[in-house]
Amino acid sequence: MNMTVLTGKHILLGVTGSIAAYKAADLASKLTQAGAQVDVILTAAAEKFVTPLTFQSVTGRRAFTDADLWGGEAHILHVGLGHSTDLLVIAPCTADTMAKLAHGLADNLLTVTALAATCPLVIAPAMDGGMFDAPATQANLATLVARGAHIVGPAEGHLASGLLGKGRMLEPAEVLGHIRVALGKAGGKLAGRKIIVTAGGTQEPLDPVRVLTNHSSGKQGYALAQAAIDLGADVCLISTPTALSAPVGVRLVPVRTAEEMKAAVLAEAVDADALIMAAAVADFRPKRVAADKMKKRDGIPQIELEAAPDILKAVAGQTERPSVVVGFAAESRDLLDNASEKLKSKKLDLIVANDISAVDAGFGVETNRVTLLFADGRKESLPLMGKGEVAEVILQTVTSLLE
Ligand code: PMT
Repeated sequence: MNMTVLTGKHILLGVTGSIAAYKAADLASKLTQAGAQVDVILTAAAEKFVTPLTFQSVTGRRAFTDADLWGGEAHILHVGLGHSTDLLVIAPCTADTMAKLAHGLADNLLTVTALAATCPLVIAPAMDGGMFDAPATQANLATLVARGAHIVGPAEGHLASGLLGKGRMLEPAEVLGHIRVALGKAGGKLAGRKIIVTAGGTQEPLDPVRVLTNHSSGKQGYALAQAAIDLGADVCLISTPTALSAPVGVRLVPVRTAEEMKAAVLAEAVDADALIMAAAVADFRPKRVAADKMKKRDGIPQIELEAAPDILKAVAGQTERPSVVVGFAAESRDLLDNASEKLKSKKLDLIVANDISAVDAGFGVETNRVTLLFADGRKESLPLMGKGEVAEVILQTVTSLLE
């Protein structure tokens, strides 16, 4: 399993009385699978929708209810849970529990514990038509936001009443993404730093329907963006179209061509601390783009190419450039010689060399085998790893270079 920001973290999950309580079981499962130690507190209303056993079965730990509030160790329990936890997430959170939290009411185990807790608080509201927009709910929300709570959602959609509107709890995977953002911001080494990551293969048009592109899936770049989020960075992900969802918390800047990517990188680089160019950018592009679709009946076209802009060289020429600039080198032969030449010619602090001749590394696959080459001549070869793990090593390295 990948080490993530969740590995070994103690997460307290509060579940309140909403039909979305079934989604909380999936969230508890996903958190546990990510390596977190998950304790669950159900309110009395939550117990009408789901049972403690549901959560015990997925977390492997006892789930708490209000019955525990009146036991002999009650004060130890709520103060202990509140103080030992790295993050409290309440999902789903009803309008009633939001109101209690906003006003400091503490009349059940969850709200007593929330009052005692000093850790980051993530709230995923779930309520029926009109309740979220009600002035009282909005006032409570504003109070909680002002105190630093992370309010995630709700989404628009079908509500339990049959109405359409704002009130659906976010999907568990999205809540998990927001938990990663909150944990990163709370203690990550890159909190307050801006990191730019580029991802995917650029698309250079030939005519309105055809492009010259490459096999980059964006997986390595998106994993880098997630690793930067986990360390608390403000992440700008400049990406070509991919089949992937952007990690929760990144600011996505969509681009297609090398020219568009260059413009986006130069605009974002002005106030960035680090730039990581994982994108596979075209070296050549068609010199002319046909205004209309090229027709077979006109014969086989002769396509003349010209150089596409070199983004890293353009960054090297800027006076205001990020403190750390990282390039990638995808090579099928003479890997280290070619990578080291690019390190120097593009004035990089670090280049990540991938041997794309192997079937389990480079484009498209889930794993990568890379060597890190530093401007000061240091070299570090990593074994075959998941792209998430490679990303974590690169972000730790960027963090040290920034320090
Ligand atoms: O997306 P995946 O399927 O997960 O695959 C990952 C990857 C193989 C695409 C990625 O890990 C990788 O190696 N990316 C760089 C691929 C590449 O274009 O390498 P290059 O040797 O052509 O370029 C060297 C560096 O210069 C790169 O950082 C590149 O972004 C940059 N470059 C290249 C061309 C150009 N016109 N401008 C640039 O800035």
